[in-house]
Amino acid sequence: MPHATQVTSLVIEPMVHDPKETKVDFGATVSGVDLNDVDSETFAKIKEAVLTHRLLVFKGQEKLHPANQLKFVQMFSPGSTHFSHALDPDYAKRRGNGGATIPGTPQCQVLGYGPIPDDHYGLPNGLVIDRQDHRKMHKFPLSEEELAKGDTRLMQLHFDGSLYSVPPPFCGSLLAVRTPKGPDLTLRFDNVNGKGEKKMAPGSTAYFNAAMAYKLLTPEQQEIANHSSVTYAPHAFTWIATTKFTSDGSSIITEGKEVPLEDLPPYDEDKIQTLPMVWHNPLNGEKSLMIHGQVAMRVNVKTSPDSPVKVLEDLGEVRAFLQTYQTPILMPEYVYCHNHQEGDLAVWYNHGMWHSITEFPTSCGPRIMHQCNLGHNEEPK
Ligand SMILES: [Fe+2]
Repeated sequence: MPHATQVTSLVIEPMVHDPKETKVDFGATVSGVDLNDVDSETFAKIKEAVLTHRLLVFKGQEKLHPANQLKFVQMFSPGSTHFSHALDPDYAKRRGNGGATIPGTPQCQVLGYGPIPDDHYGLPNGLVIDRQDHRKMHKFPLSEEELAKGDTRLMQLHFDGSLYSVPPPFCGSLLAVRTPKGPDLTLRFDNVNGKGEKKMAPGSTAYFNAAMAYKLLTPEQQEIANHSSVTYAPHAFTWIATTKFTSDGSSIITEGKEVPLEDLPPYDEDKIQTLPMVWHNPLNGEKSLMIHGQVAMRVNVKTSPDSPVKVLEDLGEVRAFLQTYQTPILMPEYVYCHNHQEGDLAVWYNHGMWHSITEFPTSCGPRIMHQCNLGHNEEPK
């Protein structure tokens, strides 16, 4: 018996952002669908909506089983089975107690902070997720005083993906199981654009539209971005494990602390990823500026389709170059901070968005999220 379609009850409402306060131009809220059982007709509408609105927040998905979250994510990348970091030999070691893997669904990670609820999809009772602390990651962290008055940062600006061997996921997905509660925090950027304060709820995920990042470039930069590419380090996140981030979480302070390539786990040269700086939305061809500023190892610069390639290899030069492309959007008016409600499933177009978690005081309580993403079945174009 075929399942009844949910397409008739599906409601997709674009988020309303006040243009006096923000230049955010993406996001939609979705109701009227149970993602435990998505038929192909409903999925077609959802995929179109992901590519149109870039971030969808599905309400009321408290009962979404991890295996069904995986099935849903798999519909975007038919044939893919690997969690995006599945072939990353140090992923579990780096994550440590900062996450847990759902038994039987290794593509689904429990991330966040605090105790995991009892009897949770086969995980042992009593597991506690360690909190990520920007003071261990940023070179110039906020002071105790700034943290006490509610300042926070982008922890690590990125798009999802291991950037080695496996194409980045087509979409990211994050189910809010437990969310922190408390007074608004002040998101700071502390970059070339200034301090840049933005009020947001504790535990928000910060999202940026990479198509807007492209639009904010000068015509000369757009032309270079159109024809240039970035080569990412093998085992990229092990490579930067010993480095410190810039204060807006977008790049690395260059001080020669990367793990030498010869000391990384064994890698294949032909699995090193070189990806274009600009990726195209398959629905409408819209261009997104897709740069992972922390794990870039080389930039292959071309000023036109036929120009010679100038390869930047000096890491200071690589990062300085990429920063001039990344930082125009890293301002309060371009960030959307999603205040996750328990039962929200956030799904975003990972080939056209950047995001970051934001730190919050432990007094706000636990943040327990189910993250599921899969390496896509083809490289972004
Ligand atoms: Fe992420």
